[in-house]
Amino acid sequence: MKYDFDKIIDRSGTNALKYSVLKERYGRDDLIPLWVADLDFETPDFITDALRKRIDHSLFGYTTVPDELWETIVKWVEDHHGWKVNKEWITYIPGVMKGVGSVVNVFVKPDEKVIIQPPVYYPFRLTPQGNEREVVFNPLKRVEGGSYEIDFEHLASVVDDKCRLLILSNPHNPAGICWSRETLVKLADFCYERNIIVISDEIHCDLTLFGNRHIPFATVSEKAAEISITFGAPSKTFNTAGIVNSYAIVPNDTLRRRFFKWLEANEFNEPPIFSTIAIIAAFQKGEAWRRQLISYIEDNIRFVEDYLNEYIPAIKPLRPQATFLVWLDCLELRLNHKELIDLFVNKARLALNDGEMFGKGGEGYMRLNVGAPRAVLKKALDQLRLALE
Ligand SMILES: Cc1ncc(COP(=O)(O)O)c(C=O)c1O
Repeated sequence: MKYDFDKIIDRSGTNALKYSVLKERYGRDDLIPLWVADLDFETPDFITDALRKRIDHSLFGYTTVPDELWETIVKWVEDHHGWKVNKEWITYIPGVMKGVGSVVNVFVKPDEKVIIQPPVYYPFRLTPQGNEREVVFNPLKRVEGGSYEIDFEHLASVVDDKCRLLILSNPHNPAGICWSRETLVKLADFCYERNIIVISDEIHCDLTLFGNRHIPFATVSEKAAEISITFGAPSKTFNTAGIVNSYAIVPNDTLRRRFFKWLEANEFNEPPIFSTIAIIAAFQKGEAWRRQLISYIEDNIRFVEDYLNEYIPAIKPLRPQATFLVWLDCLELRLNHKELIDLFVNKARLALNDGEMFGKGGEGYMRLNVGAPRAVLKKALDQLRLALE
């Protein structure tokens, strides 16, 4: 089956976040939305068909979780990432960020701290801070070519014995980095020695691009497995964020017992009927879709690179190794934050995420979501080009 990613889907009337809060967030609603990380592509038929089949039964009482759910996740993770997971290590969680919030509440005492590495997905800061935990920042180091590395020297200088948790975006949002084995091993050693738990948020791991490979943090060493809580979901790859179908994998017995006990006590480990169905359908039937989607996204990225190179060379896209977000270096435009926003929003009529949201190092950047039909991207870039002219 050939999927049609060029099809324009009208999302009006669906309360789609990307569209419905434009006025509130950007001050106007005549914008092409290329911000929040969901796709403007139809969720694939094999998921919708599975959901519809259940809907047709029309009785949605309390429902148990089939063993098939855990077996399906185990198989997907092993087939795609070479990680042999025991099904007992897995639990449902009601969204990755709710998982992060849960870990903060279970493992980080009120006077303890959480480390994040900006520029990074901004809820990594908001969730611990919202739970009144102090956040320690270890900004990523920009390297030749525009990508980033973890700054281990700085990390050692900011960590103290109150640091209990580090949140890693793997692959990294917003820069699309697949962290190397060497980096992950070093990070695991560092955190293990200091009794720091690592959340490895791997929500973007099934969309690796241009031949890059995702390495699950927990697989790089015994130490990494001992200290990690990994989060995953089919939601980015199969555009099911609204269904809420995430999971956590915790190999270490002690961490797992404590975390799962808390989830169970609060019933956060109980998936709604449709979450289970969507995960099973996505992971059992989704490989052809995933491959076609990756190929379309790669072409979208090439399209953006070529367009910017030809018409707007002052904006430099960082080629992502994973996912559908492109980190645009706009520093050469020499605009301050307000002017940059004015250019994108009021002049070009585009809603992107501005880099500052992602923390230190994000100033002068914009994050472009290329998970949209190419015609929409072309229109957006034409508007940007015109605005700059
Ligand atoms: C790195 C990362 N983690 C988590 C999320 C949100 O996941 P959820 O909706 O499951 O909380 C996103 C969404 O953009 C993300 O990019």
